[in-house]
Amino acid sequence: MDIQKKRGFCIYPGSFDPVTNGHINLIERSLHIFDKVIVAVANNPDKNSLFSVNERKEMIEIALEKNERVIVDSFEGLLVDYAKKIGIHTVLRGMRAASDFEYEFEMTFMNRKLDRNMETIFMMTGLRWFFVHSSGIKAAVKAGADVTGLVPDIVFKKLAEKVKM
Ligand code: PNS
Repeated sequence: MDIQKKRGFCIYPGSFDPVTNGHINLIERSLHIFDKVIVAVANNPDKNSLFSVNERKEMIEIALEKNERVIVDSFEGLLVDYAKKIGIHTVLRGMRAASDFEYEFEMTFMNRKLDRNMETIFMMTGLRWFFVHSSGIKAAVKAGADVTGLVPDIVFKKLAEKVKM
């Protein structure tokens, strides 16, 4: 059975709380490989996210200037169920350092266990963004540090608003 209904498409899932320039760089580079990328923002009610799903989606859309080859969506529950629903079984993930490997390895095999049609493709994060991750950005901003250049302008603005609250 051909389960992959949309070839050339991939799902790029993540928390994106908030999206960083590392994520944006990966999405832009992935468009050299894939025709369409579905950026899937995970809605995990158990996680104490700084931004709501809608805020996270909106920041990604603004940062990408509404690129028509990128669809920004959200999902709740298992990634494999979302993949099945939209008929795309290729997952894209960014890998920064070796320290990411174990987490990604476990997630890949868990997804394959849950649905053997799932395939995960990894791209290395751009060297400039090697040390950039959402939790580090949030910690830095809360401590009063300047994260200019590490996140899209819209994220920089929204982070400043959150910190003031
Ligand atoms: O940006 P993150 O936090 O590293 O993304 C992790 C994410 C959201 C892709 C992952 O936690 C996920 O797929 N969550 C959905 C629940 C699920 O499918 N779990 C089983 C695989 S671990």
